[in-house]
Amino acid sequence: MTVAEIRIRNTNERISGESNVQAFLEKQEVLYEHWNAGKLPADLQEKFTLTDENKAQILSTFDEEIQEIAARRGYKTWDVIALSEATPNIEELLTKFEQVHTHTEDEVRAIVSGKGIFIIKGTEDVGYFDVELEAGDVISVPEHKAHFFTLMDNRQIVAIRLFIETDGWIAHPYADESFQKA
Ligand SMILES: [Fe+2]
Repeated sequence: MTVAEIRIRNTNERISGESNVQAFLEKQEVLYEHWNAGKLPADLQEKFTLTDENKAQILSTFDEEIQEIAARRGYKTWDVIALSEATPNIEELLTKFEQVHTHTEDEVRAIVSGKGIFIIKGTEDVGYFDVELEAGDVISVPEHKAHFFTLMDNRQIVAIRLFIETDGWIAHPYADESFQKA
């Protein structure tokens, strides 16, 4: 099982290993859990262009996990998002994604396949840190915590998103001079 890795941007320090990652994220009030991504049917494991039927199949594969986290944390709706080089306007989408912002509800993502990175503004002593996510990683960035999401070099991801309010999920730009790209 592979798990998320952390990179602290100010120091380039990396944190790996499930318990270290979990302890670090807990301190930063970021929920981190792990699902068994191996449950995904073989024909969907490396598939990044999905039909509606594929998406329904993914949701039913992880139905137990979804129901459990939804009951525990109050999520009402969920869907599947797939991004890859084949996604129309991928450049435009990524440019839009890569702006630091906040939401009034938490941002939950369960990575089903591929990879992605959340860049999150941590406590003052830590500053911005990257969470590199792989298949099976589940993360929730708390409401009002500045962050953004982007893809890794392979530019392929499938993730389940869960929402408390379908229309409450809006990005509010977060202007921050202390943020540095790279
Ligand atoms: Fe967000």
